[in-house]
Amino acid sequence: MCGIFGYVGNRNDGQKLVFSGLKSLEYRGYDSWGVGVIPEESKNTIAIKKKVGKIGNANVSDLPGGSLSFGHTRWATHGGVTDANAHPHLDCSGTIAVIHNGIFENYEEIKKGLLRKGHKFVSETDTETLTHLLEDFSKDKPFAEAVRAAFNRMDGLNAVIAVSAKENLLVAARNGSPLVIGFGKNENFLASDASALLPYTRDVYFLEDNEMAVLAPGKVTILNVKTAKEITPKRKRLDWKIEQGEKGKYKFYMLKEIFEQPQIITDIAVSGASQAEEIAKKIKDARGTYLVGCGTASYACLAGSYLFSKLAKRHVNFAIGSEFGYSLDFLNKDSLVIAISQSGETMDILESVKKAKDKGAKILSLVNVPGSSLYRLSDYKMLIGAGQERAVASTKAFTGMVAHLVLLANSLNGGVKEGQKSLMAAVKSVNQILSLKSLRKIKELTSRIVDKKHIYVIGRGLSYPASLETALKIKEISYIHAEGLAAGELKHGPLALIEKGTPCISFLPNDETYGSNLAGAMEMKARGGYIIGISHKPREVFDYYIHVSDAGESSIIPEVIVAQLLAYYLTIKKGLDPDKPRNLAKSVTVK
Ligand code: M6R
Repeated sequence: MCGIFGYVGNRNDGQKLVFSGLKSLEYRGYDSWGVGVIPEESKNTIAIKKKVGKIGNANVSDLPGGSLSFGHTRWATHGGVTDANAHPHLDCSGTIAVIHNGIFENYEEIKKGLLRKGHKFVSETDTETLTHLLEDFSKDKPFAEAVRAAFNRMDGLNAVIAVSAKENLLVAARNGSPLVIGFGKNENFLASDASALLPYTRDVYFLEDNEMAVLAPGKVTILNVKTAKEITPKRKRLDWKIEQGEKGKYKFYMLKEIFEQPQIITDIAVSGASQAEEIAKKIKDARGTYLVGCGTASYACLAGSYLFSKLAKRHVNFAIGSEFGYSLDFLNKDSLVIAISQSGETMDILESVKKAKDKGAKILSLVNVPGSSLYRLSDYKMLIGAGQERAVASTKAFTGMVAHLVLLANSLNGGVKEGQKSLMAAVKSVNQILSLKSLRKIKELTSRIVDKKHIYVIGRGLSYPASLETALKIKEISYIHAEGLAAGELKHGPLALIEKGTPCISFLPNDETYGSNLAGAMEMKARGGYIIGISHKPREVFDYYIHVSDAGESSIIPEVIVAQLLAYYLTIKKGLDPDKPRNLAKSVTVK
Protein backbone atom coordinates (compact mmCIF):
# COMPACT_ATOMS: atom_id res chain seq x y z
CA MET A 1 0.00 0.00 0.00
CA CYS A 2 1.18 3.65 0.18
CA GLY A 3 4.93 4.08 0.51
CA ILE A 4 6.73 6.88 2.33
CA PHE A 5 10.35 7.98 2.08
CA GLY A 6 11.93 11.01 3.73
CA TYR A 7 15.40 12.54 3.95
CA VAL A 8 16.96 15.28 6.05
CA GLY A 9 20.72 15.71 5.82
CA ASN A 10 23.69 17.33 4.17
CA ARG A 11 23.27 16.22 0.56
CA ASN A 12 21.83 18.88 -1.68
CA ASP A 13 20.19 16.37 -4.00
CA GLY A 14 17.86 14.88 -1.38
CA GLN A 15 15.04 14.82 -3.95
CA LYS A 16 16.96 12.29 -6.07
CA LEU A 17 17.64 10.09 -3.09
CA VAL A 18 13.97 10.20 -2.09
CA PHE A 19 12.93 9.40 -5.65
CA SER A 20 15.13 6.32 -5.66
CA GLY A 21 13.78 5.38 -2.21
CA LEU A 22 10.28 5.52 -3.70
CA LYS A 23 11.33 3.19 -6.48
CA SER A 24 12.34 0.62 -3.93
CA LEU A 25 8.86 0.88 -2.41
CA GLU A 26 7.09 0.40 -5.75
CA TYR A 27 6.44 -3.26 -5.04
CA ARG A 28 3.98 -2.29 -2.29
CA GLY A 29 1.48 -1.31 -5.00
CA TYR A 30 0.40 2.25 -5.89
CA ASP A 31 -1.45 4.28 -8.46
CA SER A 32 0.32 7.67 -8.30
CA TRP A 33 3.44 9.18 -6.79
CA GLY A 34 4.93 12.45 -5.68
CA VAL A 35 8.12 14.05 -4.37
CA GLY A 36 8.54 17.29 -2.42
CA VAL A 37 11.68 19.24 -1.58
CA ILE A 38 12.66 22.43 0.22
CA PRO A 39 14.85 24.05 -2.46
CA GLU A 40 18.37 25.00 -1.38
CA GLU A 41 17.99 28.25 -3.33
CA SER A 42 14.64 29.23 -1.89
CA LYS A 43 14.41 27.89 1.63
CA ASN A 44 10.97 29.27 2.48
CA THR A 45 9.15 27.33 -0.20
CA ILE A 46 8.36 23.75 -1.10
CA ALA A 47 8.68 22.43 -4.65
CA ILE A 48 6.54 19.48 -5.64
CA LYS A 49 6.21 17.05 -8.51
CA LYS A 50 3.35 14.53 -8.53
CA LYS A 51 1.95 12.27 -11.17
CA VAL A 52 -0.64 9.60 -11.79
CA GLY A 53 0.61 6.16 -12.84
CA LYS A 54 3.79 4.20 -12.31
CA ILE A 55 7.18 5.85 -11.86
CA GLY A 56 8.46 3.96 -14.91
CA ASN A 57 11.08 6.05 -16.68
CA ALA A 58 10.12 9.29 -14.95
CA ASN A 59 12.71 11.37 -13.12
CA VAL A 60 12.85 14.37 -10.81
CA SER A 61 15.50 16.33 -12.70
CA ASP A 62 13.02 19.21 -13.03
CA LEU A 63 12.85 19.57 -9.23
CA PRO A 64 15.34 21.91 -7.54
CA GLY A 65 18.01 20.38 -5.29
CA GLY A 66 17.52 20.37 -1.55
CA SER A 67 18.63 18.70 1.65
CA LEU A 68 15.13 18.07 3.03
CA SER A 69 12.95 15.96 0.80
CA PHE A 70 10.05 13.54 1.08
CA GLY A 71 8.05 11.33 -1.25
CA HIS A 72 5.01 9.12 -1.44
CA THR A 73 3.50 6.36 -3.53
CA ARG A 74 -0.29 6.57 -3.23
CA TRP A 75 -2.84 3.78 -3.23
CA ALA A 76 -6.10 5.68 -3.49
CA THR A 77 -8.60 5.53 -0.65
CA HIS A 78 -10.24 8.98 -0.53
CA GLY A 79 -10.59 10.61 -3.93
CA GLY A 80 -9.90 9.25 -7.40
CA VAL A 81 -6.53 8.58 -8.96
CA THR A 82 -5.59 12.08 -10.17
CA ASP A 83 -2.50 14.30 -10.09
CA ALA A 84 -4.29 16.64 -7.67
CA ASN A 85 -5.07 13.82 -5.25
CA ALA A 86 -1.51 12.45 -5.29
CA HIS A 87 0.66 13.42 -2.30
CA PRO A 88 2.32 15.67 -1.10
CA HIS A 89 -0.42 18.18 -0.34
CA LEU A 90 0.28 21.84 0.42
CA ASP A 91 -1.44 24.35 2.68
CA CYS A 92 -2.71 27.68 1.34
CA SER A 93 0.68 29.37 1.86
CA GLY A 94 2.65 26.61 0.12
CA THR A 95 5.06 26.36 3.05
CA ILE A 96 3.58 23.29 4.76
CA ALA A 97 3.36 19.89 3.06
CA VAL A 98 1.90 16.59 4.16
CA ILE A 99 2.09 12.99 3.01
CA HIS A 100 -0.01 10.37 4.66
CA ASN A 101 -0.78 6.65 4.85
CA GLY A 102 -4.04 5.49 6.35
CA ILE A 103 -7.50 6.96 6.66
CA PHE A 104 -8.27 10.23 8.44
CA GLU A 105 -11.68 9.06 9.63
CA ASN A 106 -13.08 12.32 11.01
CA TYR A 107 -11.69 14.62 8.30
CA GLU A 108 -15.10 15.76 7.05
CA GLU A 109 -16.15 17.65 10.18
CA ILE A 110 -12.68 19.23 10.52
CA LYS A 111 -12.65 20.18 6.83
CA LYS A 112 -16.02 21.95 7.19
CA GLY A 113 -14.58 24.16 9.93
CA LEU A 114 -11.49 24.92 7.86
CA LEU A 115 -13.58 25.81 4.80
CA ARG A 116 -15.58 28.22 6.95
CA LYS A 117 -12.32 29.87 7.93
CA GLY A 118 -11.52 30.41 4.24
CA HIS A 119 -8.99 27.64 3.54
CA LYS A 120 -8.87 26.66 -0.14
CA PHE A 121 -8.90 22.94 -0.91
CA VAL A 122 -7.61 21.69 -4.24
CA SER A 123 -8.00 17.90 -3.87
CA GLU A 124 -10.65 15.39 -2.83
CA THR A 125 -8.44 13.70 -0.26
CA ASP A 126 -8.78 13.34 3.50
CA THR A 127 -5.04 14.16 3.72
CA GLU A 128 -5.34 17.74 2.53
CA THR A 129 -7.45 18.55 5.59
CA LEU A 130 -4.38 17.95 7.72
CA THR A 131 -2.25 20.47 5.79
CA HIS A 132 -4.79 23.23 6.44
CA LEU A 133 -5.25 22.18 10.04
CA LEU A 134 -1.48 22.44 10.46
CA GLU A 135 -1.53 25.87 8.83
CA ASP A 136 -3.99 27.00 11.50
CA PHE A 137 -2.23 25.34 14.43
CA SER A 138 1.24 26.54 13.47
CA LYS A 139 0.17 30.17 13.65
CA ASP A 140 0.68 30.12 17.41
CA LYS A 141 2.76 26.97 17.98
CA PRO A 142 6.16 25.68 16.93
CA PHE A 143 5.67 23.33 13.98
CA ALA A 144 6.41 20.06 15.82
CA GLU A 145 3.87 21.02 18.49
CA ALA A 146 1.33 21.86 15.78
CA VAL A 147 1.81 18.41 14.23
CA ARG A 148 1.35 16.77 17.61
CA ALA A 149 -1.86 18.70 18.26
CA ALA A 150 -3.22 17.97 14.77
CA PHE A 151 -2.32 14.30 14.93
CA ASN A 152 -4.18 14.01 18.21
CA ARG A 153 -7.28 15.39 16.47
CA MET A 154 -7.14 12.62 13.84
CA ASP A 155 -9.28 9.48 14.28
CA GLY A 156 -8.19 6.29 12.51
CA LEU A 157 -4.97 4.46 11.85
CA ASN A 158 -2.47 6.78 10.25
CA ALA A 159 1.14 7.56 9.51
CA VAL A 160 1.88 11.15 8.66
CA ILE A 161 4.88 13.14 7.44
CA ALA A 162 4.56 16.89 7.74
CA VAL A 163 7.14 19.39 6.53
CA SER A 164 7.61 23.03 7.37
CA ALA A 165 9.65 25.15 4.99
CA LYS A 166 9.78 27.99 7.51
CA GLU A 167 11.39 25.79 10.20
CA ASN A 168 13.21 23.44 7.77
CA LEU A 169 11.78 20.51 9.70
CA LEU A 170 10.30 17.13 8.93
CA VAL A 171 7.94 15.65 11.52
CA ALA A 172 6.54 12.13 11.40
CA ALA A 173 3.81 10.59 13.55
CA ARG A 174 2.42 7.10 13.63
CA ASN A 175 -0.64 5.31 14.88
CA GLY A 176 -1.19 2.11 12.91
CA SER A 177 0.66 2.42 9.61
CA PRO A 178 4.37 1.54 9.83
CA LEU A 179 7.23 4.06 9.88
CA VAL A 180 10.94 3.40 10.40
CA ILE A 181 13.61 6.00 11.18
CA GLY A 182 17.08 5.38 9.72
CA PHE A 183 20.07 7.04 11.39
CA GLY A 184 23.01 8.11 9.25
CA LYS A 185 26.03 10.33 9.72
CA ASN A 186 24.75 13.92 9.69
CA GLU A 187 21.72 12.67 7.80
CA ASN A 188 18.58 10.83 8.76
CA PHE A 189 15.99 8.92 6.82
CA LEU A 190 12.49 7.74 7.23
CA ALA A 191 10.49 5.11 5.37
CA SER A 192 7.38 3.01 5.57
CA ASP A 193 9.44 -0.11 4.99
CA ALA A 194 12.85 -0.81 6.55
CA SER A 195 14.13 -2.56 3.41
CA ALA A 196 14.07 0.80 1.61
CA LEU A 197 16.62 2.15 4.11
CA LEU A 198 19.19 -0.60 3.60
CA PRO A 199 21.25 1.18 0.91
CA TYR A 200 21.77 4.10 3.34
CA THR A 201 21.84 2.78 6.86
CA ARG A 202 21.24 -0.27 9.02
CA ASP A 203 20.83 1.69 12.21
CA VAL A 204 17.07 2.05 12.65
CA TYR A 205 14.23 2.67 15.05
CA PHE A 206 10.74 1.31 14.37
CA LEU A 207 8.36 4.02 15.48
CA GLU A 208 5.67 2.57 17.75
CA ASP A 209 2.01 3.60 17.80
CA ASN A 210 1.48 7.08 19.19
CA GLU A 211 5.09 8.10 18.76
CA MET A 212 6.37 10.95 16.68
CA ALA A 213 9.81 11.85 15.34
CA VAL A 214 11.19 15.31 14.67
CA LEU A 215 13.93 15.18 12.05
CA ALA A 216 16.27 18.13 11.68
CA PRO A 217 19.71 17.89 10.03
CA GLY A 218 21.88 15.80 12.35
CA LYS A 219 19.20 15.37 14.99
CA VAL A 220 16.21 13.11 15.60
CA THR A 221 13.93 13.55 18.60
CA ILE A 222 11.32 10.91 19.42
CA LEU A 223 8.30 11.93 21.48
CA ASN A 224 5.11 10.40 22.77
CA VAL A 225 2.31 11.97 20.73
CA LYS A 226 -0.12 12.06 23.63
CA THR A 227 2.17 13.38 26.36
CA ALA A 228 4.98 15.10 24.41
CA LYS A 229 7.41 13.25 26.67
CA GLU A 230 10.76 12.57 25.02
CA ILE A 231 11.59 8.89 24.42
CA THR A 232 15.06 7.41 24.13
CA PRO A 233 14.75 5.17 21.10
CA LYS A 234 16.01 1.60 21.36
CA ARG A 235 17.75 1.44 18.03
CA LYS A 236 18.06 -1.81 16.10
CA ARG A 237 20.74 -2.96 13.74
CA LEU A 238 19.31 -4.49 10.56
CA ASP A 239 21.27 -7.54 9.49
CA TRP A 240 19.10 -8.16 6.42
CA LYS A 241 20.56 -8.84 3.02
CA ILE A 242 19.95 -6.28 0.29
CA GLU A 243 17.91 -8.32 -2.14
CA GLN A 244 15.94 -5.73 -3.99
CA GLY A 245 16.07 -5.02 -7.65
CA GLU A 246 17.74 -8.20 -8.68
CA LYS A 247 15.44 -10.16 -10.90
CA GLY A 248 18.52 -11.85 -12.30
CA LYS A 249 17.63 -13.93 -15.33
CA TYR A 250 13.91 -13.62 -14.64
CA LYS A 251 11.69 -11.07 -16.31
CA PHE A 252 9.42 -10.72 -13.29
CA TYR A 253 9.85 -11.02 -9.54
CA MET A 254 6.96 -13.45 -9.38
CA LEU A 255 8.73 -16.00 -11.55
CA LYS A 256 11.98 -15.53 -9.65
CA GLU A 257 10.15 -16.05 -6.37
CA ILE A 258 8.41 -19.17 -7.69
CA PHE A 259 11.79 -20.64 -8.60
CA GLU A 260 13.28 -19.84 -5.19
CA GLN A 261 10.84 -22.20 -3.47
CA PRO A 262 12.74 -25.50 -3.55
CA GLN A 263 15.68 -23.88 -1.76
CA ILE A 264 13.49 -22.12 0.81
CA ILE A 265 11.58 -25.29 1.66
CA THR A 266 14.84 -27.22 1.92
CA ASP A 267 16.23 -24.57 4.29
CA ILE A 268 13.10 -24.73 6.45
CA ALA A 269 13.21 -28.54 6.51
CA VAL A 270 16.87 -28.51 7.52
CA SER A 271 16.98 -25.68 10.02
CA GLY A 272 13.39 -25.18 11.19
CA ALA A 273 13.03 -28.41 13.18
CA SER A 274 14.37 -27.40 16.58
CA GLN A 275 12.45 -24.12 16.58
CA ALA A 276 9.29 -26.05 15.64
CA GLU A 277 9.81 -28.40 18.58
CA GLU A 278 10.25 -25.45 20.91
CA ILE A 279 7.13 -23.67 19.67
CA ALA A 280 5.11 -26.90 19.71
CA LYS A 281 5.42 -26.80 23.51
CA LYS A 282 3.59 -23.45 23.58
CA ILE A 283 0.79 -24.91 21.49
CA LYS A 284 0.58 -27.91 23.83
CA ASP A 285 0.29 -25.62 26.85
CA ALA A 286 -2.43 -23.45 25.33
CA ARG A 287 -6.12 -24.01 25.94
CA GLY A 288 -7.56 -23.02 22.60
CA THR A 289 -5.32 -22.18 19.64
CA TYR A 290 -6.40 -19.97 16.75
CA LEU A 291 -4.73 -19.61 13.36
CA VAL A 292 -5.35 -16.19 11.85
CA GLY A 293 -4.31 -14.69 8.51
CA CYS A 294 -5.57 -12.76 5.49
CA GLY A 295 -5.69 -13.63 1.79
CA THR A 296 -3.06 -16.17 0.86
CA ALA A 297 -1.86 -16.36 4.46
CA SER A 298 -5.41 -17.29 5.51
CA TYR A 299 -5.23 -20.30 3.21
CA ALA A 300 -1.97 -21.32 4.87
CA CYS A 301 -3.85 -21.04 8.19
CA LEU A 302 -6.68 -23.19 6.88
CA ALA A 303 -4.13 -25.76 5.70
CA GLY A 304 -2.62 -25.58 9.19
CA SER A 305 -5.96 -26.50 10.77
CA TYR A 306 -6.06 -29.70 8.64
CA LEU A 307 -2.40 -30.47 9.40
CA PHE A 308 -2.85 -30.08 13.16
CA SER A 309 -5.95 -32.27 13.10
CA LYS A 310 -4.41 -34.96 10.96
CA LEU A 311 -0.87 -35.11 12.29
CA ALA A 312 -1.24 -33.92 15.88
CA LYS A 313 -4.87 -34.90 16.55
CA ARG A 314 -5.38 -31.39 17.77
CA HIS A 315 -8.22 -28.99 17.11
CA VAL A 316 -6.92 -25.64 16.02
CA ASN A 317 -9.44 -23.00 15.01
CA PHE A 318 -9.04 -21.01 11.86
CA ALA A 319 -10.19 -17.43 11.27
CA ILE A 320 -9.78 -14.76 8.63
CA GLY A 321 -7.94 -11.72 10.04
CA SER A 322 -10.66 -9.21 9.15
CA GLU A 323 -13.34 -11.35 10.86
CA PHE A 324 -11.47 -12.62 13.90
CA GLY A 325 -11.96 -9.36 15.78
CA TYR A 326 -15.73 -9.93 15.78
CA SER A 327 -15.59 -13.45 17.19
CA LEU A 328 -12.95 -13.45 19.89
CA ASP A 329 -14.96 -12.63 22.98
CA PHE A 330 -14.19 -16.08 24.40
CA LEU A 331 -10.41 -15.60 24.37
CA ASN A 332 -8.60 -15.56 27.69
CA LYS A 333 -5.10 -15.72 29.10
CA ASP A 334 -4.77 -19.41 28.23
CA SER A 335 -5.57 -18.86 24.55
CA LEU A 336 -2.89 -18.81 21.89
CA VAL A 337 -3.32 -16.89 18.64
CA ILE A 338 -1.00 -17.91 15.82
CA ALA A 339 -0.97 -14.93 13.46
CA ILE A 340 0.51 -15.62 10.04
CA SER A 341 1.56 -12.86 7.68
CA GLN A 342 4.17 -12.26 5.02
CA SER A 343 4.50 -8.53 5.64
CA GLY A 344 3.62 -8.45 9.32
CA GLU A 345 1.90 -5.14 8.56
CA THR A 346 -1.56 -6.25 7.44
CA MET A 347 -3.94 -3.99 9.33
CA ASP A 348 -6.74 -6.56 9.54
CA ILE A 349 -4.37 -8.91 11.37
CA LEU A 350 -2.81 -6.26 13.58
CA GLU A 351 -6.20 -5.00 14.69
CA SER A 352 -7.55 -8.40 15.68
CA VAL A 353 -4.28 -9.46 17.30
CA LYS A 354 -4.33 -6.32 19.44
CA LYS A 355 -7.89 -7.15 20.52
CA ALA A 356 -6.80 -10.70 21.34
CA LYS A 357 -3.91 -9.33 23.39
CA ASP A 358 -6.32 -7.12 25.31
CA LYS A 359 -8.20 -10.30 26.24
CA GLY A 360 -4.97 -11.70 27.66
CA ALA A 361 -4.28 -14.18 24.84
CA LYS A 362 -0.67 -14.95 23.94
CA ILE A 363 0.42 -14.16 20.39
CA LEU A 364 2.70 -16.33 18.31
CA SER A 365 3.55 -14.83 14.94
CA LEU A 366 4.89 -16.49 11.83
CA VAL A 367 6.05 -13.60 9.66
CA ASN A 368 8.44 -13.05 6.80
CA VAL A 369 9.52 -9.49 7.53
CA PRO A 370 11.68 -9.25 10.65
CA GLY A 371 11.01 -6.13 12.70
CA SER A 372 7.50 -5.74 11.28
CA SER A 373 4.69 -4.51 13.53
CA LEU A 374 3.23 -8.00 14.03
CA TYR A 375 6.66 -9.41 14.80
CA ARG A 376 7.28 -6.76 17.41
CA LEU A 377 3.99 -7.09 19.22
CA SER A 378 4.11 -10.89 19.50
CA ASP A 379 5.00 -12.89 22.59
CA TYR A 380 6.63 -15.66 20.55
CA LYS A 381 8.09 -15.11 17.10
CA MET A 382 8.94 -17.33 14.15
CA LEU A 383 10.43 -16.06 10.91
CA ILE A 384 9.33 -17.67 7.65
CA GLY A 385 12.76 -17.10 6.11
CA ALA A 386 11.56 -16.80 2.51
CA GLY A 387 13.63 -13.65 1.83
CA GLN A 388 12.10 -10.47 0.53
CA GLU A 389 8.94 -11.10 -1.49
CA ARG A 390 8.33 -8.30 -3.96
CA ALA A 391 5.65 -9.55 -6.33
CA VAL A 392 2.21 -8.56 -5.05
CA ALA A 393 1.03 -12.15 -5.54
CA SER A 394 2.41 -14.13 -2.65
CA THR A 395 4.16 -17.35 -3.66
CA LYS A 396 7.25 -18.32 -1.68
CA ALA A 397 5.85 -16.84 1.53
CA PHE A 398 2.83 -19.16 1.24
CA THR A 399 4.82 -22.34 0.75
CA GLY A 400 7.20 -21.19 3.49
CA MET A 401 4.26 -20.73 5.88
CA VAL A 402 2.93 -24.19 5.04
CA ALA A 403 6.39 -25.75 5.44
CA HIS A 404 6.66 -24.34 8.99
CA LEU A 405 3.16 -25.58 9.79
CA VAL A 406 4.07 -29.07 8.55
CA LEU A 407 7.02 -29.08 10.95
CA LEU A 408 4.96 -27.67 13.81
CA ALA A 409 2.13 -30.18 13.39
CA ASN A 410 4.60 -33.06 13.19
CA SER A 411 6.52 -31.77 16.22
CA LEU A 412 3.34 -31.84 18.27
CA ASN A 413 3.21 -35.61 17.95
CA GLY A 414 6.96 -35.95 18.41
CA GLY A 415 7.58 -36.70 14.74
CA VAL A 416 9.48 -33.68 13.44
CA LYS A 417 11.68 -36.00 11.35
CA GLU A 418 8.57 -37.19 9.49
CA GLY A 419 7.78 -33.57 8.74
CA GLN A 420 11.28 -33.01 7.39
CA LYS A 421 10.97 -36.09 5.18
CA SER A 422 7.65 -34.99 3.78
CA LEU A 423 9.02 -31.50 3.05
CA MET A 424 11.94 -33.02 1.17
CA ALA A 425 9.45 -35.11 -0.87
CA ALA A 426 7.70 -31.83 -1.67
CA VAL A 427 11.01 -30.32 -2.80
CA LYS A 428 11.54 -33.27 -5.16
CA SER A 429 8.04 -32.85 -6.54
CA VAL A 430 8.53 -29.09 -6.99
CA ASN A 431 11.80 -29.62 -8.85
CA GLN A 432 9.95 -31.86 -11.31
CA ILE A 433 7.28 -29.19 -11.78
CA LEU A 434 9.98 -26.61 -12.49
CA SER A 435 11.57 -28.82 -15.19
CA LEU A 436 11.28 -27.59 -18.78
CA LYS A 437 8.97 -30.43 -19.77
CA SER A 438 6.49 -29.71 -17.01
CA LEU A 439 6.66 -25.92 -17.56
CA ARG A 440 5.84 -26.50 -21.24
CA LYS A 441 2.81 -28.53 -20.21
CA ILE A 442 1.53 -25.76 -17.92
CA LYS A 443 2.17 -23.10 -20.59
CA GLU A 444 0.29 -25.13 -23.18
CA LEU A 445 -2.72 -25.31 -20.86
CA THR A 446 -2.87 -21.52 -20.70
CA SER A 447 -3.54 -21.32 -24.48
CA ARG A 448 -6.58 -23.52 -23.95
CA ILE A 449 -8.15 -21.53 -21.13
CA VAL A 450 -6.89 -17.95 -21.44
CA ASP A 451 -10.07 -16.75 -23.18
CA LYS A 452 -12.43 -18.30 -20.66
CA LYS A 453 -14.47 -16.06 -18.38
CA HIS A 454 -14.67 -18.42 -15.38
CA ILE A 455 -12.50 -21.14 -13.88
CA TYR A 456 -13.56 -23.46 -11.04
CA VAL A 457 -11.12 -25.22 -8.76
CA ILE A 458 -12.05 -28.09 -6.44
CA GLY A 459 -10.35 -30.10 -3.74
CA ARG A 460 -11.01 -31.74 -0.40
CA GLY A 461 -9.01 -31.87 2.81
CA LEU A 462 -5.67 -30.13 2.33
CA SER A 463 -6.47 -29.63 -1.35
CA TYR A 464 -9.38 -27.40 -0.35
CA PRO A 465 -7.06 -24.57 0.79
CA ALA A 466 -4.99 -25.39 -2.32
CA SER A 467 -8.13 -24.76 -4.42
CA LEU A 468 -8.83 -21.46 -2.69
CA GLU A 469 -5.23 -20.34 -3.19
CA THR A 470 -5.29 -21.43 -6.86
CA ALA A 471 -8.39 -19.35 -7.50
CA LEU A 472 -6.92 -16.34 -5.68
CA LYS A 473 -3.67 -16.50 -7.68
CA ILE A 474 -5.55 -16.72 -10.99
CA LYS A 475 -7.95 -13.88 -10.28
CA GLU A 476 -5.54 -11.44 -8.68
CA ILE A 477 -3.03 -11.34 -11.52
CA SER A 478 -4.78 -12.60 -14.69
CA TYR A 479 -8.14 -10.97 -13.86
CA ILE A 480 -10.00 -14.14 -14.91
CA HIS A 481 -12.79 -14.95 -12.51
CA ALA A 482 -11.84 -18.10 -10.61
CA GLU A 483 -13.59 -19.78 -7.71
CA GLY A 484 -12.09 -22.28 -5.30
CA LEU A 485 -14.49 -24.77 -3.75
CA ALA A 486 -14.62 -27.64 -1.34
CA ALA A 487 -15.45 -30.39 -3.86
CA GLY A 488 -18.31 -31.60 -1.69
CA GLU A 489 -20.04 -28.23 -2.05
CA LEU A 490 -20.36 -28.56 -5.83
CA LYS A 491 -23.72 -30.25 -5.77
CA HIS A 492 -25.01 -27.79 -3.18
CA GLY A 493 -25.04 -25.00 -5.74
CA PRO A 494 -21.99 -24.22 -7.88
CA LEU A 495 -22.56 -27.17 -10.23
CA ALA A 496 -25.30 -25.04 -11.81
CA LEU A 497 -22.53 -22.85 -13.29
CA ILE A 498 -20.70 -25.62 -15.13
CA GLU A 499 -21.41 -25.72 -18.84
CA LYS A 500 -19.74 -27.01 -21.99
CA GLY A 501 -16.06 -26.10 -21.95
CA THR A 502 -15.93 -24.54 -18.44
CA PRO A 503 -12.38 -25.09 -17.14
CA CYS A 504 -12.54 -27.13 -13.91
CA ILE A 505 -9.29 -27.74 -12.06
CA SER A 506 -9.44 -30.84 -9.84
CA PHE A 507 -6.82 -31.67 -7.24
CA LEU A 508 -6.54 -35.42 -6.71
CA PRO A 509 -3.66 -36.10 -4.32
CA ASN A 510 -2.76 -39.56 -3.09
CA ASP A 511 -4.72 -39.38 0.16
CA GLU A 512 -8.09 -40.29 1.62
CA THR A 513 -9.82 -37.63 -0.50
CA TYR A 514 -8.88 -39.29 -3.80
CA GLY A 515 -12.13 -41.20 -4.49
CA SER A 516 -14.44 -38.33 -3.56
CA ASN A 517 -12.39 -35.82 -5.53
CA LEU A 518 -12.62 -38.11 -8.53
CA ALA A 519 -16.39 -38.19 -8.14
CA GLY A 520 -16.42 -34.37 -8.12
CA ALA A 521 -14.39 -34.26 -11.34
CA MET A 522 -16.83 -36.69 -12.94
CA GLU A 523 -19.83 -34.65 -11.86
CA MET A 524 -18.36 -31.60 -13.58
CA LYS A 525 -17.40 -33.61 -16.65
CA ALA A 526 -20.97 -34.88 -16.95
CA ARG A 527 -22.09 -31.22 -17.23
CA GLY A 528 -19.60 -30.49 -20.01
CA GLY A 529 -16.73 -29.21 -17.81
CA TYR A 530 -13.20 -29.24 -19.23
CA ILE A 531 -11.39 -31.19 -16.52
CA ILE A 532 -7.82 -30.27 -15.64
CA GLY A 533 -6.50 -32.96 -13.31
CA ILE A 534 -3.59 -32.15 -10.99
CA SER A 535 -2.59 -35.48 -9.50
CA HIS A 536 0.10 -38.12 -9.04
CA LYS A 537 -1.53 -40.29 -11.75
CA PRO A 538 -3.58 -39.69 -14.90
CA ARG A 539 -7.29 -40.65 -15.19
CA GLU A 540 -9.62 -41.00 -18.11
CA VAL A 541 -11.85 -38.24 -16.80
CA PHE A 542 -9.08 -35.66 -17.24
CA ASP A 543 -9.16 -33.59 -20.43
CA TYR A 544 -5.77 -32.20 -19.43
CA TYR A 545 -3.36 -33.71 -16.96
CA ILE A 546 -0.55 -32.14 -14.92
CA HIS A 547 1.61 -34.52 -12.97
CA VAL A 548 2.44 -33.77 -9.32
CA SER A 549 4.33 -36.49 -7.53
CA ASP A 550 3.10 -37.53 -4.11
CA ALA A 551 4.59 -35.68 -1.13
CA GLY A 552 2.29 -36.95 1.59
CA GLU A 553 0.94 -34.19 3.83
CA SER A 554 3.19 -31.69 2.06
CA SER A 555 1.53 -32.31 -1.34
CA ILE A 556 -0.28 -28.99 -1.00
CA ILE A 557 3.08 -27.32 -1.67
CA PRO A 558 3.65 -28.69 -5.21
CA GLU A 559 -0.09 -28.43 -5.96
CA VAL A 560 -0.04 -24.72 -5.24
CA ILE A 561 3.19 -24.20 -7.17
CA VAL A 562 1.48 -25.59 -10.29
CA ALA A 563 -1.28 -23.05 -9.64
CA GLN A 564 1.22 -20.21 -9.23
CA LEU A 565 2.79 -21.08 -12.59
CA LEU A 566 -0.59 -21.40 -14.28
CA ALA A 567 -1.65 -17.98 -12.98
CA TYR A 568 1.71 -16.51 -14.02
CA TYR A 569 1.59 -17.84 -17.60
CA LEU A 570 -2.08 -16.84 -18.02
CA THR A 571 -1.07 -13.32 -17.02
CA ILE A 572 1.88 -13.23 -19.40
CA LYS A 573 -0.31 -14.54 -22.21
CA LYS A 574 -2.74 -11.66 -21.58
CA GLY A 575 0.15 -9.19 -21.75
CA LEU A 576 -0.31 -8.10 -18.12
CA ASP A 577 2.28 -7.36 -15.45
CA PRO A 578 2.17 -10.21 -12.90
CA ASP A 579 4.21 -8.25 -10.35
CA LYS A 580 1.88 -5.28 -10.08
CA PRO A 581 -1.77 -6.27 -10.51
CA ARG A 582 -4.29 -3.45 -10.75
CA ASN A 583 -5.96 -2.18 -7.58
CA LEU A 584 -3.85 -4.33 -5.26
CA ALA A 585 -1.03 -3.61 -2.85
CA LYS A 586 1.66 -5.81 -1.39
CA SER A 587 1.28 -4.60 2.13
CA VAL A 588 -2.34 -3.91 3.08
CA THR A 589 -1.97 -1.29 5.79
CA VAL A 590 -5.55 0.01 5.84
CA LYS A 591 -8.74 -1.69 7.01
O1 M6R B 1 1.39 -9.72 4.23
P1 M6R B 1 0.29 -10.68 4.49
O2 M6R B 1 0.68 -12.12 4.33
O3 M6R B 1 -0.40 -10.44 5.81
O4 M6R B 1 -0.79 -10.36 3.37
C1 M6R B 1 -2.04 -10.97 3.36
C2 M6R B 1 -2.72 -10.77 2.04
O5 M6R B 1 -2.92 -9.41 1.78
C3 M6R B 1 -1.92 -11.38 0.88
O6 M6R B 1 -1.66 -12.72 1.08
C4 M6R B 1 -2.68 -11.20 -0.44
O7 M6R B 1 -3.85 -11.98 -0.42
C5 M6R B 1 -1.77 -11.56 -1.61
N1 M6R B 1 -1.87 -10.56 -2.64
C6 M6R B 1 -2.08 -12.87 -2.22
O8 M6R B 1 -1.24 -13.19 -3.27
